[in-house]
Amino acid sequence: MRVAFAADHGGAALKTDLLRALRASQATHELIDLGGDGSDPADDYPDFSQQLGRAIQDGDADRGVLICGSGVGASIAATKMRGVRASVCHDTYSARQGVEHDDMNVLCLGARVIAIELALECTRAFLGARFSGEPRHVRRLDKVLAIEAEEAGRR
Ligand code: RB5
Repeated sequence: MRVAFAADHGGAALKTDLLRALRASQATHELIDLGGDGSDPADDYPDFSQQLGRAIQDGDADRGVLICGSGVGASIAATKMRGVRASVCHDTYSARQGVEHDDMNVLCLGARVIAIELALECTRAFLGARFSGEPRHVRRLDKVLAIEAEEAGRR
């Protein structure tokens, strides 16, 4: 899988640590660093959410990991994008089940909330999971996609 990473100034240091640890421990996934580098304390999380969302929409990445201070702002912005299913998950159960049941394709993390060890575990759970395809989950996902389509038509 191609996995894109992006972070605002609040998440850049954790992104660096996460990428370093993942690169050292696995070769299964292609890890793509979209930035930022944390050098601009005035940068804005929606810009990184949009950049990562575009990478998924354009087929340049299969999944993404977005990091800001809390994970919340990055998640809110990312979920505005068509085809992006993002959520903050700071536990491995949600990081795995979010993919298996909800086809989550973007994991959001809060660098001011969790440390590298748990962030790494959550990311591994997220990347190791696959959508189950069970009929009840497909039905629910179809309803989510129907909301997305309906809302797009209202804009
Ligand atoms: C940036 O200071 C901070 O507000 C941002 O990283 C994030 O936590 C927003 O949800």
